[in-house]
Amino acid sequence: MVFHILTIFPEMFKGFLNESILKKAQGNKVIKIHLHDIREYSENKHKKVDDTPYGGGAGMVFTPQPLFDCIEHVKKLAPKAPVVYMTPAGKRLKQVMVERFAKKYKELILLCGHYEGIDQRVIDALVDIELSIGDYVLSGGELAAMVVVDAVSRLAPGALGNETSHEEETFSKKLDRKKEYPHYTKPAEYRGMKVPDVLQSGNHGAIEKWRREHLR
Ligand code: 6GU
Repeated sequence: MVFHILTIFPEMFKGFLNESILKKAQGNKVIKIHLHDIREYSENKHKKVDDTPYGGGAGMVFTPQPLFDCIEHVKKLAPKAPVVYMTPAGKRLKQVMVERFAKKYKELILLCGHYEGIDQRVIDALVDIELSIGDYVLSGGELAAMVVVDAVSRLAPGALGNETSHEEETFSKKLDRKKEYPHYTKPAEYRGMKVPDVLQSGNHGAIEKWRREHLR
């Protein structure tokens, strides 16, 4: 999976991409991330990317020119990729949608907005999907784009090491999309708190029954 991230804050992604599964997945070529700095596409001499809204109101709006040029450039690199605009007004991301993205696309273009939003003409002409990660407002789309990259990447074949682990876990089909069962590891007793006997029994039928009964 190749992610193209369009942002005015590419530095925000560096720490996130250089840790854990995302770092490994990039090392193994399971995923690739291209950061595109929207500001670099501004034809304004001060590299301005925003302006006041027509009709008045608070805040600033991304102007069309840098976004059109940046998106058109990236679409040439990834002609089959949908342009996904990260916005609190978008469709709410769910695990089924994450699975659909992972299956359907080899590349995703994630556009991160800021301020009060972006000029509607960009959305009308170039955006395929408007996506939100939940019912709250973030100051920019970057954190939301990171959520999409993380959730989709870990489903890419080879990203987790253990290919069955993501199917058996949280929200999986096998577990009726229920959340999780409790996990325990060594030691079998810690500060007087014991691991349930059944999990140490080696009886796989009994263990599966216990886990189903403890889905939460
Ligand atoms: Cl995708 N963007 C912003 N700015 N806020 C959000 C969001 C996205 N999803 C939830 N809140």
